[in-house]
Amino acid sequence: MPLTDPARDLLDRGHTTIPLSTADLKALAELRTQAARFFTQDEETKLRHGSDDFNFGYRPYGRQYSVSPDRPDMNSSFTYWADDPAKVPGHEDDSVAPFLKALGMYWQVAADAADQVLAGLAGHYGYRDDLHFRASSYLEVNWYLRDAERDLLQDRHEDGHLFTLATSDGPGLEIETGRELKQATVGDGRLLVMPGSVLTAMTAGQVPPLYHQVRNHHLEQRITVLYLVNPPLGQLVAPYVAEDGRAVDVAALARTSGAMFGLPPAPVLTPPKA
Ligand SMILES: [Fe+2]
Repeated sequence: MPLTDPARDLLDRGHTTIPLSTADLKALAELRTQAARFFTQDEETKLRHGSDDFNFGYRPYGRQYSVSPDRPDMNSSFTYWADDPAKVPGHEDDSVAPFLKALGMYWQVAADAADQVLAGLAGHYGYRDDLHFRASSYLEVNWYLRDAERDLLQDRHEDGHLFTLATSDGPGLEIETGRELKQATVGDGRLLVMPGSVLTAMTAGQVPPLYHQVRNHHLEQRITVLYLVNPPLGQLVAPYVAEDGRAVDVAALARTSGAMFGLPPAPVLTPPKA
């Protein structure tokens, strides 16, 4: 269990961290190993494991941006929704199956961490609803490309989810605290909890989004593992804080927030395996 109250930390500092156990870190290490194996395959092989709408599996460089379409994020991605490997084209092929297995193992780690954050928020706000996030959330592994020119591999942006649980294998992530963007100091063996714009809407602005960017340190390899936590996408979701009695449709916001980064609407999926 965390030593600090994640909800209190989010309200006071705008972000927080969650510690991982030794077993959790083993699952993360295995995921990074399998990610490196997947992403170092040829482009044709990787493209066989991406859906046409770029929602599931491999997404090549150039499809996602942080501010402007002419400055794509300097990474390709792999997206694993709802702990369901079958959503990924060709999921039984040797070229992707070990990676999907590692994603499934790490999913349990990330979902447990998300439970801790949501339990803290529910306690703080006296929230009664159970925010079923597992069918509407996804893991995203970003494989960064080397670039000699750009200072930033991702431009400053906020994420369009409740929150993101982020971990990287190297420096580069900068977060905005006060008015400055500074290198994130997360600590070994911890996940950074970055609130997104959906949490801002759910809290009537009490938890602002954590703006962030990725600086280019010209690393040989950089892998980021993100767990992007959404509220249920296909139903009305009660906010933590009702603003002047107005109901904010946070599910609709979560479904469509990827558009500002060039992404398609989030899929509304049936709940995953128990
Ligand atoms: Fe982001």
